[in-house]
Amino acid sequence: MNTAKEKVLILDFGSQYNQLIARRVREIGIYSKIKPFSMTLAEIKTFNPMAVILSGGPSSVYEANSPKIDKGVFELGIPILGICYGAQLMAHTLGGTVVPADNLANREYGRTETCFDTDSSLFRNISTKSITWMSHGDSVEKIPEGFTAIAHSDGCPFAGFENREKRFYAVQFHPEVNHTEKGTEILKTFLVDIAGASANWSMANYLQTSIDSIRAEVKDGKALLALSGGVDSSVAAALMSRAIGENLTCVFVDHGLLRKDEGDQVEQIFSNYPVNFIRINAQRHFLDKLNGVTDPERKRKIIGEEFIRVFEAEAKKIGKVDYLVQGTIYPDVIESGLGSNAAVIKSHHNVGGLPDYVDFKKIIEPLRYLFKDEVRQLGRELGLPEYLVSRQPFPGPGLAIRIIGDITEEKLSILREADWIFRCEIEKAEVPDASQYFAVLTDTRSVGVMGDGRTYEYTLALRCVSTSDFMTATFTRIPYDILEKVSHRIVNEVPHINRVVYDITAKPPATVEWE
Ligand code: XMP
Repeated sequence: MNTAKEKVLILDFGSQYNQLIARRVREIGIYSKIKPFSMTLAEIKTFNPMAVILSGGPSSVYEANSPKIDKGVFELGIPILGICYGAQLMAHTLGGTVVPADNLANREYGRTETCFDTDSSLFRNISTKSITWMSHGDSVEKIPEGFTAIAHSDGCPFAGFENREKRFYAVQFHPEVNHTEKGTEILKTFLVDIAGASANWSMANYLQTSIDSIRAEVKDGKALLALSGGVDSSVAAALMSRAIGENLTCVFVDHGLLRKDEGDQVEQIFSNYPVNFIRINAQRHFLDKLNGVTDPERKRKIIGEEFIRVFEAEAKKIGKVDYLVQGTIYPDVIESGLGSNAAVIKSHHNVGGLPDYVDFKKIIEPLRYLFKDEVRQLGRELGLPEYLVSRQPFPGPGLAIRIIGDITEEKLSILREADWIFRCEIEKAEVPDASQYFAVLTDTRSVGVMGDGRTYEYTLALRCVSTSDFMTATFTRIPYDILEKVSHRIVNEVPHINRVVYDITAKPPATVEWE
């Protein structure tokens, strides 16, 4: 169910980039739905799309069992754009020919300079030459009757072709990926200029559509959500609460390893929502379990297991629920294998394994198709405070893996204060490109002098990295005067720290976190 009037149908032929197509269409301001290529003509008519996009995919059209669509789709009178495999399928279905890679020396993979016919309706808004992202073995050898070639590259004479009268368009490259320089403009031309979309669909509409479909699914069922206080689970909680109100129970396990004031902030936000909010103060429990543990992997394991145990105990009190809600977002889905319908849980997240312990019928993942920045946008739309939606990544095991060596209450409080000062100063100074920044309490002690006395206290490390994907990162070039101010404040304001160092290692070879 959805409330959007203008709908684009993306037929899925198995490309790894399909969700990117959906994302681009959303960015342009139009509602879209990805459906399997096997959707019947009758179902397509009922869906009533204003345009259809045929996605890419790994198959070859001339293989007997390759995915095909009903030819009737081309008789619906709506604009159709074929991308990569979709382009070849359009050519093949309408009487052109596609040849396998073996017959051509011109397979293309990666960035490819492409020439465009700017008199064509599809490329009228871009310049004659730019880079596209190609990823194909097969090629269109002959375009169907009624079509005109409108783009080419060195290896691909039909990088684009159109039947302007019927509003059928095909591109061999992938306009949805960032490497295609004018990709978004091309999709926009197709959807707005050619298909006539008014493109006024927004995150507010997305929110309403999500609420409608959650309500349609859950009805008056009961749902349970493990709230960590991070962006994803908080946005999922706020969304579910908007949809089903008190039929949602949020269980927030406070393991005592959060940053300064975070536990109270989570409680304060969600106790104002119309949900059943349960905070479990398990700080002591976790500290006891971690007592004397110094090995990073053991710390992670203990925290993961105890989290499940504490959550399980609470879930048992609640009894049977119909749905378990998870804040899985699209990058998690990719990491766990594309297209899988299996329950997906971040592999290194501390709620791994949860579903085994809770009595529920089904998992709901309301953010499953959103990218991180879209989740943040949705959170803003839901009225969550900015400090929560723009929160940087924070590991499930929390401060336990930012205290080197054994964890004590005293060390936690030292680290919280120092980390708070560092984060405040970086934010105040608006240091550019600071993607994630935090303090680490090392287990090194060194000699210092304060007043007239000798000190022998902890060394604190500061970590600040610049990265877009957290897979690789460089240390951020924080100006010295800011580092100086941070160091000065920490040593003066936080007892038991007498030395501050800045971590200048990239990832790889180091990781972002110290443990
Ligand atoms: P590393 O240390 O692997 O961190 O370079 C990369 C990113 O992942 C975050 N991180 C975690 N996130 N659970 C999480 O949810 C974890 O156990 C965990 N460990 C690391 C880290 O903060 C960084 O953003």
